[in-house]
Amino acid sequence: MKIVLLGAPGAGKGTYASRLKKTYNIPHISTGDLLREAVKNNTEQGIEAKKYMDKGQFVPDEIIVDILKERLKQDDTQKGMLLDGFPRTIKQAELLDEITDINKVLKFNLEEDTILRRLGGRIICKGCGEIFHKQNLKPKEEGICDHCKNELYQRDDDKDETILERLKIYNEQTSPLVKYYSDKNLLHNIDANTDISHPDCNVIEECEKILNLIGINNNETN
Ligand code: AP5
Repeated sequence: MKIVLLGAPGAGKGTYASRLKKTYNIPHISTGDLLREAVKNNTEQGIEAKKYMDKGQFVPDEIIVDILKERLKQDDTQKGMLLDGFPRTIKQAELLDEITDINKVLKFNLEEDTILRRLGGRIICKGCGEIFHKQNLKPKEEGICDHCKNELYQRDDDKDETILERLKIYNEQTSPLVKYYSDKNLLHNIDANTDISHPDCNVIEECEKILNLIGINNNETN
């Protein structure tokens, strides 16, 4: 079960992946998280990547592809994965096709205003990486993760001017992937405008419906 999660910065890819990975018992592989880990560990790749990430720009393909290939060697990817943040360009999608076959692409759609609101309030756990929001997905205790009790922080690239640059680059370079995956009959659009705390929010149910329809259900992956 190899699933690509597609959507603008702040669309909720990481939020939904953290729920779906438990249902389907497959890892959530976020290239953004892998890069932030490399930055934190001060690796050569991390130091180089940070220059681009701080400006909201894509890191060079050779860095991201090396990091991803290394991660895909780990045993937990045998049953599949939820790929978040890769591919981000047609070139990366072609490279991915050479590495593995993708079963489905879930594309999260939402208004730009909602994106800006969500990214502006995002807070993340320093320990387990769980994602919260200052207004619409609050931790039980302010500044503290509900799960591992570590401190919550705001990402360096969640500043207004960097967010706008990330959105611009997304529209120019990542949006063409919609046609790329539609042409391959792999793309499913999901309306992700409704806040997760709202009773009408059915994003996770929609994802599960699509994944179960193609014969990928919880029992098969356990
Ligand atoms: P990355 O970490 O992938 O950032 P991104 O794509 O900009 O996506 P985000 O993590 O910002 O958003 P998300 O969709 O996961 O939203 P989230 O769930 O957090 O990449 C960072 C950088 O790394 C890039 O800019 C680039 O430099 C580099 N990079 C990464 N991959 C690369 C690649 N392949 N090639 C080149 N460079 C690469 O949700 C956002 C907020 O909204 C949260 O606070 C959440 O609580 C809230 N929220 C989400 N959904 C809901 C909802 N339904 N209701 C209410 N609140 C919600």
